[in-house]
Amino acid sequence: MFDILVTGGAGYIGSHTCVALLEAGFSVVIADDLSNSKFEAVSRIRSITGNKVTFYPYDITDEIELERIFTRHAIRCVVHFAGKKAVGESVEMPLEYYRTNLLSTISLSRVMKRHGVKNIVFSSSATVYGNSKKVPYSEKSPTGNCTNPYAWTKWMNEQILSDVVRSDPDWSVVILRYFNPVGAHTSGKIGEDPLGLPNNLFPYLTQVAVGKLEQLPIYGSDYPTKDGTGIRDYIHVMDLAEGHVSAVRKCLRDFGVQIYNLGSGKGHSVFEVIHAFEEATARKIPYVICPRREGDVSASYASTKKAAEELHWKSRRTLADMCTDAWRWQESNPQGYC
Ligand code: UD1
Repeated sequence: MFDILVTGGAGYIGSHTCVALLEAGFSVVIADDLSNSKFEAVSRIRSITGNKVTFYPYDITDEIELERIFTRHAIRCVVHFAGKKAVGESVEMPLEYYRTNLLSTISLSRVMKRHGVKNIVFSSSATVYGNSKKVPYSEKSPTGNCTNPYAWTKWMNEQILSDVVRSDPDWSVVILRYFNPVGAHTSGKIGEDPLGLPNNLFPYLTQVAVGKLEQLPIYGSDYPTKDGTGIRDYIHVMDLAEGHVSAVRKCLRDFGVQIYNLGSGKGHSVFEVIHAFEEATARKIPYVICPRREGDVSASYASTKKAAEELHWKSRRTLADMCTDAWRWQESNPQGYC
């Protein structure tokens, strides 16, 4: 029996992916320093799945701590989520972002190499497509031209891992570029729990619905889209989590670097999301139109062909499912994990 190491496994996407991996029969070890997550998420992963999950509150930029994990467990594959992820914050503190997000991948890969573990699934983002305008984005669309340090760290991590494969073709690297993960596990026990004021649309929307925030700011209604608001490819976090299970299987089977978009392939505007949310939850969402947010593109959505063909994976859940599940999580945990 071998283990899958999930770095950042107590975080939003990490926790859902742990549930999906455990439900698929994998054994999971989590490393998360809890700098932007809570231990309660790990307890809830255990309670949803009824599985034992070993947890280490380690900082994975620290090779000594990582060594302990690789010495104690027979790790076969790493799913690497751990990292900083707030775009605005990355502009204010670029060095922190470059240090944490690059050093974690470098330390992890060095320790993996020492232990002969050469399989890694890396959590990248559609943000690497930068301000390239032609949608849908395919994996061959140009990358770079990033608009903030967070995005550059994702892009640079992709380069680092590709160079590792170039130096040793026995490595197997699967890079997943996420579009906009939203929603929560249907149990309502795990979900997105942002610290402070949410930056992203869905957590803002659910906090308005629960009465924690007064109204939703809509950043721009003059985009060249059907109703003037920005278009994004929202994907249910459990679909995304299941995409990781397929990616781990692929990673264990193959060699080299594989890159996949994980999205639904459908674009929805901010107004469409608000309407779907109102319909799914029977709540009215007060909103106010605000100026465009700096760095936003008008439309971003995925071509999902490659993931369907090679990972045999497709998103299944609808925008209504995303709204219902996000709301169930928010309503049953109005203060997030406490
Ligand atoms: C953002 C990040 C992206 C990151 C992703 C993670 C920016 C510029 N980009 O993507 O790098 O990978 O989150 O999920 O922050 N909106 C509102 N009101 C709000 C919040 C958002 O109208 O209060 C609009 C935005 O203008 C956009 C859409 O909703 O059109 C989605 O925004 P958001 O959820 O922040 O995601 P992205 O900007 O796509």
